Amino acid sequence: MLTTAADFYLIIYLRRRALTGTVALSLLGRHILLGVSGGIAAYKSAELARLLVKAGAEVRVVMTTAATEFVGPMTFQALTGHTVRSGLFDEEHEAAMGHIELARWADLVVIAPATADLMARLAHGKAEDLLTTLVLATPAAVAIAPAMNQQMWADTATQANLERLDEREYLIWGPAAGEQACGDVGMGRMIEPAEIAEKIDASFPGGRLDGISAMVTAGPTYEAIDPVRFIGNRSSGKMGFAVARALVEQGAEVTLVAGPVKLEAPKGVRRIDVESAAEMHAAVMDSIAGQALFVASAAVADYRPADVADGKIKKSAQSMTLELVRNPDILADVAALPEPPFCVGFAAETHDVVGHAEEKRTRKNLDMIAANHVGGETGGFDAADNALTVLWKNGSIELPMMDKQRLAHRLVELICDQFKKPEGDD
Ligand code: C5P
Repeated sequence: MLTTAADFYLIIYLRRRALTGTVALSLLGRHILLGVSGGIAAYKSAELARLLVKAGAEVRVVMTTAATEFVGPMTFQALTGHTVRSGLFDEEHEAAMGHIELARWADLVVIAPATADLMARLAHGKAEDLLTTLVLATPAAVAIAPAMNQQMWADTATQANLERLDEREYLIWGPAAGEQACGDVGMGRMIEPAEIAEKIDASFPGGRLDGISAMVTAGPTYEAIDPVRFIGNRSSGKMGFAVARALVEQGAEVTLVAGPVKLEAPKGVRRIDVESAAEMHAAVMDSIAGQALFVASAAVADYRPADVADGKIKKSAQSMTLELVRNPDILADVAALPEPPFCVGFAAETHDVVGHAEEKRTRKNLDMIAANHVGGETGGFDAADNALTVLWKNGSIELPMMDKQRLAHRLVELICDQFKKPEGDD
């Protein structure tokens, strides 16, 4: 898609503004789905996209077909670094991230501007294009910033739709009164992008771990047998990465010690890549001083081959025996430090989940343990969803099956509830 001259100048203008922008928000790692519908205020959404990216958010833009008549998708692509989606039946985009996946990806959906027509379609639960479909499919909150001619805003149909959306707990931001693009004066102007960005920021509570250092282990470990073979496991690292992200969103400074996984680190995280349990142990011990929180989500191999062959082992005998030796228990070692951080472990069990997890919590001297049932039909290792039973000294809670990122947010909320800031830290 080509950039029009107008789009080009808009991008240059916004980039210049980016150098002098004054809004100091923190949306680090937040996933914002920005919906743009077809009104003249669409050009202001480009400024909003820029502000959100500047505040650290990951922004994906979905435009209605009408919106693309006002601003070219390339403008948003240039500002967000991601292709803009518009059609519901776009094979190429669906292959990259399906619309349901995109709907689940969002932490917040913000539609700015929301035209009278879009409000009507939302009020009636229509799903005839990508944006309205995403709104129905998302578990996230949806905010709209209405923008339209003052007469259209005042019309009883629009007001009835507004009431419906309000009843359904849409966040309704604006409109403001003033001079309109058509020359009228009255209610219907979209509120300013900076104001929308502030409302987005305020809609995420966060900040409960401001200034706190946290370390997370994630993923599997690979234990070398020879230069080409290893013993490993199927851990994807998704849960640990989701926990790291949720900690960052609460304001923590996060170090993520990751085994071999195919995942991108969340924004703002210090990542240390390791392969074996011994490397993970060394990396953790090297940086554990000063950490107030330690979340061990890695599926560390319990054993490693006693000897690693220098060259590739040839097949000659009919059978072979590998001698395995125990790996250090990273979590237990951290919990046994003279001044341990608040320690959270994970326990994957096939039966008597709570009994085994509680035994593990006390044996390893942990502050909290998150237990999940593995095997059978229930979430776990490589799945997108999971369910946890979280246990601490004087309590426990069941977190039902849900997306791992949402689960991580809930777990981090519990950690925040139980974690006491060190004395004199306030
Ligand atoms: O004893 P078990 O392996 O079931 O304990 C699981 C918990 O201990 C997880 O939190 C895991 O990350 C941690 N662990 C560890 N080092 C090991 C084994 C487990 O940190 N060697």
